Amino acid sequence: MDASSRNHYLEAIGVDVWVRRSMPAVSVVEPLADPVAQAAIEPAVSAAPVIVDEPVTADVADRWQALRTEILSCTRCGLHQTRTQGVVGVGPQRTDWMVIGEAPGAEEDRRGEPFVGRAGHLLDAMLRAIGLDRGTNVYIANVLKSRPPNNRDPKPEEVAACLPYLMRQIQLLQPRLMLAVGRIAAQNLLSTDLSLSRLRGKVHHFGELNTPLIVTYHPAYLLRTPADKRKAWEDLKFARSVFRQLTDHRIGTDGNLS
Ligand code: URA
Repeated sequence: MDASSRNHYLEAIGVDVWVRRSMPAVSVVEPLADPVAQAAIEPAVSAAPVIVDEPVTADVADRWQALRTEILSCTRCGLHQTRTQGVVGVGPQRTDWMVIGEAPGAEEDRRGEPFVGRAGHLLDAMLRAIGLDRGTNVYIANVLKSRPPNNRDPKPEEVAACLPYLMRQIQLLQPRLMLAVGRIAAQNLLSTDLSLSRLRGKVHHFGELNTPLIVTYHPAYLLRTPADKRKAWEDLKFARSVFRQLTDHRIGTDGNLS
């Protein structure tokens, strides 16, 4: 990436670009103005290992389609009365990484895709910093598929009604690692009221498949509290290293451990 595009990119995600007076404007970006953003502009040497996913069979594709149809016509809780549309998720139909947020906001409700507002742009930058991209190798979904009015916290009965959809998404995706972003997602997925700071920095496990799950800050919180981006970057590096350990020992198609 050339320096000019890099500056443009940093400005787009709201990071100040520092320029030395004596040097041409396009040539200098002070390192670590923001660790998450800085990492996002590094070359992809830090990217997560590329794992060739199993092909999506017709059966898996059909089950995704059925799930999508059900979510879009769901009336299991009162939120269907106020939402514009259900927000299923975005990403490949089978992949190693899954990110889970809380619930769609106004922009997501309007566009039918998770994390497409300001927080979503920051989430994308954070994910790119560890080699992930919603178009290729990470699936992003929410605990709730419908927007709560005025972005209020999800009610327990709404979470209970919606969780089976998330479970089916996990069964279809078979992720190797899940990243819960924000307190609400983490607490609901782990059935706990421990604070986010108590939940960070550990490998939890989720659901029947016992999928490893790591917790980090919600990008909307990071927009309000940029000083904590450094801690979020620690979480992402932790997640990347756990993922590498998990995938260092893979069972090959011949049944042998590699
Ligand atoms: N916040 C979330 O938790 N999810 C979204 O999809 C958007 C904002």
